[in-house]
Parts: sequence; C-alpha cells; structure tokens
Amino acid sequence: MPETLSIIDNRTGKKYEIPVVHDTIKAMDLRQIKVADEDFGLMSYDPAFMNTASCQSRITFIDGDKGILRYRGYPIEQLAEKSNYLEVAYLLINGELPTEGAPKDWAYHITHHTLLHENTKKFMEGFHHDAHPMGMLISTVAALSTFYPEAKNIRNPETRKLQIYRLIGKMPTIAGYAYRHRMGLPYVYPDNELSYTGNFLNMMFKMTELKYKPNAVLERALDILFILHADHEQNCSANVMRSIGSSLADPFCAMAGAAAALYGPLHGGANEEVLSMLREIGTKDKVPDFIKRVKAGEGRLMGFGHRIYKNYDPRAKIIKETADQVFEVTGRSPLLDIALELERIALQDDYFVKRKLYPNVDFYSGIIYQAMGFPTDAFTVLFAIPRTAGWIAQWQEMLLDAEQKIARPRQVYLGAEKRNYVPIEKRV
Ligand code: ACO
Repeated sequence: MPETLSIIDNRTGKKYEIPVVHDTIKAMDLRQIKVADEDFGLMSYDPAFMNTASCQSRITFIDGDKGILRYRGYPIEQLAEKSNYLEVAYLLINGELPTEGAPKDWAYHITHHTLLHENTKKFMEGFHHDAHPMGMLISTVAALSTFYPEAKNIRNPETRKLQIYRLIGKMPTIAGYAYRHRMGLPYVYPDNELSYTGNFLNMMFKMTELKYKPNAVLERALDILFILHADHEQNCSANVMRSIGSSLADPFCAMAGAAAALYGPLHGGANEEVLSMLREIGTKDKVPDFIKRVKAGEGRLMGFGHRIYKNYDPRAKIIKETADQVFEVTGRSPLLDIALELERIALQDDYFVKRKLYPNVDFYSGIIYQAMGFPTDAFTVLFAIPRTAGWIAQWQEMLLDAEQKIARPRQVYLGAEKRNYVPIEKRV
C-alpha cells in the first residue's frame, strides 16, 4: 500500500501524490498545488493549531481519548508513585532516567544555583504591595537575562547546561520572594539541606524558627504535584517557549514569555479561577443552579475540559488521591464538598458528557494548595515552577532539531485591496 495521499485539484483537474509519514503530510508539500504558475500555492488554514503538528518530539506522549500521559515513555502514574521531581526533570531534559551517581550530581548543581543576585531584592521592592505573584515571577525571570548575559550563547551545550541549573534552581526562590514581598515578610534564603520541594516550603513559610522542618506528607504531595505539572507536550506555553526560542533569544527571556502564556485563565491560571468559582458557589446546595448557569452560557465550569483529553485527565485522578493524604494532615477543605458535588453532577449531565468535558489537572490542585496554606494568587506560580523542566526540554529539543527555523506562521489576508491615501479634509 503506497504511503501517499492522492489529491485531485478540481480547479485544474491536476493530480498530486503527497507522501504520508507518521500519519502526517508536510504542509509545504501543498505549496506545489497551484492554478497558475505565478500563484503562491495552497496553504492549510488552522487557527489555534487544532490539527497541525509544529514539531517532531520525543519528550511527552498523550493519548487524549484513552487518558494516557507518558514522559519519555514512562507512564505518569509510575513516575508519580516512584520518582521525584528532580529525577523527572532530568528525564524530561536528558531523555533517560539518571543512572547511579547522576541524580546526586544533578541535584547538587541545581541546589547550588538557588540563590538570587542580591539586586533582585531591590527590584522586588519596586512592585506594588499587592502585585500578582505571576507578574512578579514573569518579570524577574526575564530580568535574570540581564544578570547572565552569556546565556545568549544558546548553541554552546555547556552554557545551556548552566542556564538549565539556574532556571530550575532559581524558580522556587523567585516564587518565594514574590510571596514574601506580597505578605510583607522577610525573604528566606534557600536551605541546601532540604529537598527541592522542602526548600520551597521553607522559602515560603519559614517564620522565626532557626531551621524550617517541612511536613513530610506535604513535601511529598507537592513533589507529586510538581511531577504531574512538569510537561504536557505542545500546550500554549510550551509553544510560546519554542516560538520565542526559535528566534535564538536567551532561555530567561523565552521562559518569561512561556510563563506569561501560562498566566492566562484558560491555561495555568485556571487553578486560581477554580478556587474563585468554588468560593462564589459557596455551598453544596447552590451547585445545581451554578451548573444551570454554565449550561446557559453564563460562564465556564473552570477546571473542566481540555483541548486534548476527551476522557479523564490522568493527572486529575492522581491529584484526587494526593488530596486525601494532604487533608489527613491539614484537615478537610470545605470547598472539597462543593468540588465533589460539581464533579458528580457534571459527569452525568448531558451537556458535559456530550462535549466530553472532564475534570482537568486544575480542578483539584487548587483545593490542595489552599489546604497547604498557599494563597490563591500563588497557584499559577506553583504550576510554573515544575513546568520549568518541560519548557527547557521543549526549548532544547527545538534548538537541536535541524528541521526547525524561526517560527513564522502564514496568514490568509482578507483585508482591503490596495487603495490610495486620502488627506483628512477629503475623507468621508
Ligand atoms: N465549561 C462549560 N463548557 C465548556 C467548558 C467548560 N469548562 N469547556 C468547554 N466547554 C464547551 C464550549 O462552550 C463548547 O461548547 P459548544 O460546542 O456548544 O460551543 C465545547 O465545550 C468545546 O469547547 P472549546 O472551547 O471549543 O474547547 P477547547 O478545546 O478550545 O478548550 C479549554 C479547551 C480551553 C481547556 C476549555 O475546556 C476551557 O475553557 N476550560 C475551562 C478552563 C480550564 O479549566 N483550563 C485549564 C486547562 S488544563 C491546563 O491548561 C493546565
């Protein structure tokens, strides 16, 4: 059976054979299809990239219909149960699980790049007292580019490696500073004796104690949440990371752009929106009325639906189990009952069933974060920290892919034809 697609252009009667590789045709192969020699050639039109692969990737596999998510071939369920965030970050970026010795080396380098330049505090001070932590995080990540000008040597593997340590190491510190600034609390320096998530909890919540001791259950729960958020193939922010990176900008600037994309309420900002929604509903008995309003088009059920998952989001399943462990320590959040009721009703309602809308990763993560003591507007920051590994993996894969060039989509121009400038006194 020939691995080609036959196309007959009914405008000309001409027939074309287009190669099919990995169930894909190359959009550039359509360009030869023309009515006249001087034509530009056929393009595909795909707003929001609904059916366009922008790259070949070996990082993350998702089968949305079956609810499958794998990093470098490893099922997310196994990684969440057996691995830890730093090991998963290594896997995503380097392609393989680290062998004996390597994890220590990897963790050592990341741990020794957690400090921020002291000047960071000065511009942190410039933010308004109630500045959103994501705005502070985005700006500070971009500002790191000015501290490390050598980062622009993106073709040098050793320079790239150093920026990777810096980005993974410093993201929790920036997040900690942003939170402490918001609360009017003194900044907490990293503690190298703690784990990645233990240290993050330290930089957020340490008060007057000499040494912060993270609760082991919460530390592990956060680690699991970080694993679940580490990558998700060509989502909106990964696409931004690749796109900015394709102009050969340094990784700090590219990541600031990716984090900005994550901030939006349809992407990583959804966990914050879920909490606002649950608070607005207020009590379990108001859930049916809220669902009615969603169905009438008066807003969305935040934390539900996904562009790719048209079955259960496997991350949501793991998060629900993690929630139980967290609530044993923190006590049960009253918002959980509202969330469970929303899920129960939505999963049997025709509107949601027909549209294949299921809880996504954000539906329960916010309730866990709230129970752990994180303020609502820090939730998206909690998404950005672990996603750093995914953004870096996607960025590096793009840089090393010989087929990639500066990202530059085409458009279908529907505007005015050429017309002559009219002086203002003659305009009607
Ligand atoms: N609540 C109510 N209706 C919904 C929802 C929702 N959460 N999501 C989709 N729909 C409806 C749409 O109104 C549309 O209905 P229609 O066919 O009658 O017009 C249909 O389902 C398809 O929706 P689209 O917006 O076309 O789906 P798309 O794939 O573009 O959107 C998205 C996916 C953005 C995630 C969407 O489901 C949504 O807005 N969800 C709420 C926000 C959210 O939770 N985002 C987090 C996503 S996960 C992440 O980024 C980490």
